[in-house]
Amino acid sequence: CGIVGYNGKNQAAEILLKGLEKLEYRGYDSSGIAFQTSKGVQMFKEKGRIADLRDAVTEEIDAHVGIGHTRWATHGVPDQKNSHPHKSASGRFTLVHNGVIENYEKLTREYLQDVSFVSETDTEVIVQLIEYFANTGLTTDEAFRKALSLLHGSYAIAMLDEQDPDTIFVAKNRSPLLVGVSEEANVVASDAMAMLQVTNQFIELHDGEIVLLGKDGIVIETLAGDKIERAPYTAELDMSDIEKGTYPHYMLKEIDEQPGVIRKIIAAYSTEEGTLDIDPYIKQAFQHADRLYVIAAGTSYHAGLIGKEYFEKLSGLPVEVHISSEFGYNMPLLSKKPLFLFITQSGETADSRQVLVKVKALGYPSITLTNVPGSTLSREADYTLLLHAGPEIAVASTKAYTAQLAVLAITAYAVSCDAHKLDLKTELAIAANAIQTMTDAKEDLKKLAHTFLTDKRNAFFIGRGLDYYVSLEGALKLKEISYIQAEGFAGGELKHGTIALIEEGTPVIALATQSSVSPNLRGNVKEVTARGAHACILSMEGNNEPDDGLVLPHVHELLTPLASVIPLQLLSYYASLQRGCDVDKPRNLAKSVTVE
Ligand code: G6P
Repeated sequence: CGIVGYNGKNQAAEILLKGLEKLEYRGYDSSGIAFQTSKGVQMFKEKGRIADLRDAVTEEIDAHVGIGHTRWATHGVPDQKNSHPHKSASGRFTLVHNGVIENYEKLTREYLQDVSFVSETDTEVIVQLIEYFANTGLTTDEAFRKALSLLHGSYAIAMLDEQDPDTIFVAKNRSPLLVGVSEEANVVASDAMAMLQVTNQFIELHDGEIVLLGKDGIVIETLAGDKIERAPYTAELDMSDIEKGTYPHYMLKEIDEQPGVIRKIIAAYSTEEGTLDIDPYIKQAFQHADRLYVIAAGTSYHAGLIGKEYFEKLSGLPVEVHISSEFGYNMPLLSKKPLFLFITQSGETADSRQVLVKVKALGYPSITLTNVPGSTLSREADYTLLLHAGPEIAVASTKAYTAQLAVLAITAYAVSCDAHKLDLKTELAIAANAIQTMTDAKEDLKKLAHTFLTDKRNAFFIGRGLDYYVSLEGALKLKEISYIQAEGFAGGELKHGTIALIEEGTPVIALATQSSVSPNLRGNVKEVTARGAHACILSMEGNNEPDDGLVLPHVHELLTPLASVIPLQLLSYYASLQRGCDVDKPRNLAKSVTVE
């Protein structure tokens, strides 16, 4: 979910709606907005996209103070009554919330037995609780603090009080939230992107802090009442980075940006001597470790699997790769000197963060590999490695994945004692060119999506070695944005069960870029085509055969994933378009999942 708030000199409605549009990547199943007007707090809520909310706000709203929310449902189905903002029983307080309140049932039993709730959300409990304490004679500030002190869980909150129309009450715990300051207005947002239209001066909030956000000033305090002074930082974001320009979709723009991103990464990690290197402290952390634990979710997890190969092959460091939501609750036996590497595009994924909190408590060193400097996981880990990919807006990750692979390769190379047999800088530049060749093959992939995937219920991606890991990512992309059921499989494993699903016309995309295993993989392709599958082989110059559907330009075998994933991204993109799906905002998903 994402939240915004505006308190300033201009009309709030359009600013808040635009802000919510920028936050749609955080969830978009319903949304809402509320304003302090001369008639009291006016609220609009709608199921669906921000565009639907925009349509619902039919009248001119004369208001300079307001809050808004875009939702990714956790408690309660996505509908109008469950969408935020939520009001207290008397209508005095109106609140938006991102996060999950774990003890909301207990709080309801203890304090709110007499309240009739409108929604099924955990959020409504917060606003009712604040009213409950206000009714006992506490000031809003006191009631707000009292209620917050009872909450267990994560929250980023913005609240309006009809009796104090000049203030937005803000609080944060374990959910991202920033305050923006300027002459024109003070604002609050889950992500700076939403309020760049007002300011580029932002102040980070820490867990357990509250803010009284006025038009002319802000007060930051701890829950206990201690004042906090914190200087703003300048958000190094450009509006053009976050607009689509002439592209029909962010995803296509981001696919096309990949050669440039790899070149930017090469420049960012180049030393004065012209070689690739990383921060010496981070290098030391790797050199002191006897085992690396990679923790990640989704696409970042798939990048981690390839990262394992890089570290083990280039630097000899043993690596385990874990899904964050599993690791935190079922920790394996750890080595004596573990090092934790969190791979997270957004730096906000709650599943990954809960692991970071646990390993920090155990005293282990940690590094976050992220695209977002200043993000929660970046701030909380000991060290940060940056992706330099620029904002990724489409929900399906593309350029962040290839950027993760490039930075993982550079890190493994930098940590290694004898990787210098490899000229990684040149090899990455060659890979960037190969990516470019593949992004130029759009027409071929459009056709392939049409002939290969139209009207298909399911599809298989197979590969061996690094190709297997890329096939997992290819399948995830296709699932995410076209809703075709797709699975990535190790080529040799298919025959041990899943081959039962192959029927006449089942599409199988086979990756065969790795010379040592490509003959075996071609054997696996024969097994499926003998059973009626339609196969398309993606190989690489040097080990290609005449009938291969797609041939990559030659790149170093360790770096093939950077190039081989591009046609899979494009295939998913065109399959999604041809099926009439919403490419950038696929159903049920959110880009940054800040709840566990
Ligand atoms: C969400 C997104 C995925 C992403 C995953 C991990 O589920 O929909 O595309 O891969 O989160 O995100 P992170 O920001 O931690 O890489």
